[in-house]
Amino acid sequence: MPTSPPPGRWNDVARATGLLGPDGAVAQTIFAEMTALAARTGAINLGQGFPDVDGPEFIRTAAKDAIDAGRNQYPPGDGVPELRRAIADHQLRHYGLDVDPDTEVLVTTGATEALAASILALAGPGDEVVTLEPFYDSHAAGIALAGATHVPVPLTAEGFRLDAAALRAAVTPRTRLIVLNTPHNPTGTVLTRAELEQVAAIARESDAVVLTDEVYEHLTFGDAVHVPIATLPGMAERTLTVSSSGKTFSLTGWKVGWVHGPAELVTAVRTVKQFLTYTSGAPFQPAIARALGDDETPRALATSLAARRDLLCEGLTAAGFDVVVPQGTYFVVADGAHLLGRLGVADGHDLCRRLPELAGVVGVPVSAFCRPGSPTSAALASRVRFTFVKREDVLRDAVGRLHRLAS
Ligand SMILES: Cc1ncc(COP(=O)(O)O)c(C=O)c1O
Repeated sequence: MPTSPPPGRWNDVARATGLLGPDGAVAQTIFAEMTALAARTGAINLGQGFPDVDGPEFIRTAAKDAIDAGRNQYPPGDGVPELRRAIADHQLRHYGLDVDPDTEVLVTTGATEALAASILALAGPGDEVVTLEPFYDSHAAGIALAGATHVPVPLTAEGFRLDAAALRAAVTPRTRLIVLNTPHNPTGTVLTRAELEQVAAIARESDAVVLTDEVYEHLTFGDAVHVPIATLPGMAERTLTVSSSGKTFSLTGWKVGWVHGPAELVTAVRTVKQFLTYTSGAPFQPAIARALGDDETPRALATSLAARRDLLCEGLTAAGFDVVVPQGTYFVVADGAHLLGRLGVADGHDLCRRLPELAGVVGVPVSAFCRPGSPTSAALASRVRFTFVKREDVLRDAVGRLHRLAS
């Protein structure tokens, strides 16, 4: 048995995601740590973003029917035809995007595989991949897996908006990919058409491909409108659009995702994806094909999430946090700066470790969504992400508990 950690790219992945301590010890992810903490202490887990109510019965029944109908062996590597067709129909109906289901759509094991396969396919050592910061952690992991260089561009401190000048300065001749995420996890920012036009102009000028993670595409609130960057002039030919059924239909464990874009880019991604999982989710794919025809379920989810967002934001504000009210997703970033001194905690990470005992609630520090040690990580050190994709009674209980911090 080796006594020291084995060499290999896993070290880069661990380092990029903040899991490698200075002593070389590998930590579990913050999500696993906080979920375990919630289980141990009985605290309400507002750390990990998964719904506590399953998606609609008709979709679950469709998966059971598919199992009974014998759809249990390897489905086609691209995804079953009815799902690829349903994805193309969905993109046309919602966004006017004309997508060929046979050559321009690839079904994947969740958005996670679509993202990893896309980055692995298009970037490698010596290439640069730009992301927003904070970012969803699997974006950084994918870049590290590819051996590419991660160039994060901070969202503005005021309101977490795109800093187009910073993006322009970050893009170089070595930039292969600009990774977007809108609606954005963890901040809840929904990039506006004007912001996306600035990204598009930079991508076109630098000849970069845009990889856009749109898993929260249907979860927007109020006036916020989700605009896929692929709909902007000249962008469909240089954009890979990733989404997934997990958030839209509250079926996060099914891991049915997809990527679509121009045939040459999808061919590149398919070439990698077929050696990652080849294929998955045989009975779930036809069920999601049926789900994608239903626009009412995501609409109702967004409406109920907007009310739950308000409940949690008001509760966090009453407890002494400053919140940036999210326009989408199911997360809110709350700044605990005013609480830290009084509670005797150092930063958001420390606050998260102490929250179960102080208030019976769990969140995750926003620093976990930043490059370890980056200026953005330091600037957001007092911020905590909470999810509101929990039943209203659970959120009311959480808000009541959080109020203990106010005294
Ligand atoms: C921004 C973002 N992208 C991708 C994913 C993962 O999606 P999937 O479960 O479909 O792999 C998540 C899940 O939390 C996410 O927040």
